Amino acid sequence: MARPDLMDRVVNLAKRRGLVFPSSEIYGGFRSTWDYGPLGVLLKRNVKEAWWRAMVQLRDDVVGLDSAILMAPRVWEASGHVATFTDPLVDCRNCQERFRADQLPASGACPNCGAKDSFTDARNFNLMFKTYVGPVEDAANVAYLRPETAQGIFVNFQNVQTTTRKKPPFGIAQIGKSFRNEITPGNFVFRTREFEQMEMEFFVPPEDGPEWFEYWCRERFRWYTELGIPEDQLRLRPHDPDELSHYSTGTADVEFDYPWGWGELEGIANRTDYDLTKHAEFSGQDLSFYDQENDRRYVPHVIEPAAGADRATLAFLLAAYHEEEAPTADGKVEKRTVLRLDPRLAPNKVAVLPLSKNEKLVPVSEEIATDLRSRFMIDVDLAGSIGRRYRRQDEVGTPFCVTVDFDTLDDRAVTVRDRDSMQQDRVSLDRLAAHLQERLPA
Ligand code: GAP
Repeated sequence: MARPDLMDRVVNLAKRRGLVFPSSEIYGGFRSTWDYGPLGVLLKRNVKEAWWRAMVQLRDDVVGLDSAILMAPRVWEASGHVATFTDPLVDCRNCQERFRADQLPASGACPNCGAKDSFTDARNFNLMFKTYVGPVEDAANVAYLRPETAQGIFVNFQNVQTTTRKKPPFGIAQIGKSFRNEITPGNFVFRTREFEQMEMEFFVPPEDGPEWFEYWCRERFRWYTELGIPEDQLRLRPHDPDELSHYSTGTADVEFDYPWGWGELEGIANRTDYDLTKHAEFSGQDLSFYDQENDRRYVPHVIEPAAGADRATLAFLLAAYHEEEAPTADGKVEKRTVLRLDPRLAPNKVAVLPLSKNEKLVPVSEEIATDLRSRFMIDVDLAGSIGRRYRRQDEVGTPFCVTVDFDTLDDRAVTVRDRDSMQQDRVSLDRLAAHLQERLPA
């Protein structure tokens, strides 16, 4: 399938099946904002849950945090965001469209109207959203919506370190919304002004920074492949020195091969002691760590894997999307769309499908659904032919369909169909939950 076509098909599927809707749609939408529908919210929650499991639950050197979106404005002065978190903005004098100067085509022509040499000089535009806290809209009450979750972690470094008694190397992880007044949002949920980040700040002795940077590059690359993105659709790209953020001595991006080309999925940065040193300076608090074993005091260096929940969700969707030929019950061949999502990410794990709405089948199906519902996210679908219902579950990635038929009433068994192989197994009801549990890893 042609790659641009893939994007259209995934956006179309997302809308049609309740994964992602344009936000405020009944008002004509609102500037590249998106809402996750009933299946999308499950998929994105599963992405975040897989991240939390890998980064917090399965490690003894990382703890979690959920800090506020609104923070003291001094935080953003200390972090450098007020002064330097800017993009160069230009306007086309011909069509008045705005662009990032660093994203213009080499031809110099306006990407919107084609006019030549029509751009104004670039001016720096700060990406932070400003608001006012309290009823008075004056300079004393300005606050910012956070443009990254990371600063909530840095300002809590001491609170977390002293309450958990963790010693470097250790990390603090957080998932939450961030906001950037992007000049050119676009490509569906790839770049939006409101998005969700999954960030972890890993505090290490200064001399160990480079080694931990390499470690987290490997670990984060592995996380995506382990959850099903083929290795040839991913690459790790070190930043050129002129691309580095104001706080970083080294950054590598995990990039994904999006339908429009390679693009960032996650950034892994060596932030050195920049943030803790700045916050110590601006807050007047000592944010150094006393290493008792070696009787020395130092400001920890920080390695930061920073991922986007929305971008990751999009990448998993794109990598999972397949169209293929499949045999029908009457021996013909038809096209099926299937999301080959890792079962851990699939919105629903199991669909319960009574063969018909027959009064004898429905109560048994409900009994089965009630039991399975307490263990997995499930769907019950009664509408249409069984073939159509299989296709509907395939295109939203449900790993297993459980069909309840008339034989079930006699043999107390059901047919379990596998999404990928389409193989069907007869499984007795008393083994059903265990059968599914064995095939659906945590
Ligand atoms: N704390 C470091 C930091 O924020 P970043 O590379 O600017 O680094 C990290 O952002 C990740 O957050 C990106 O790799 C991307 O996945 C996600 N992200 C950043 N800006 C985004 C936007 N406007 N829309 C969607 N996701 C975004």
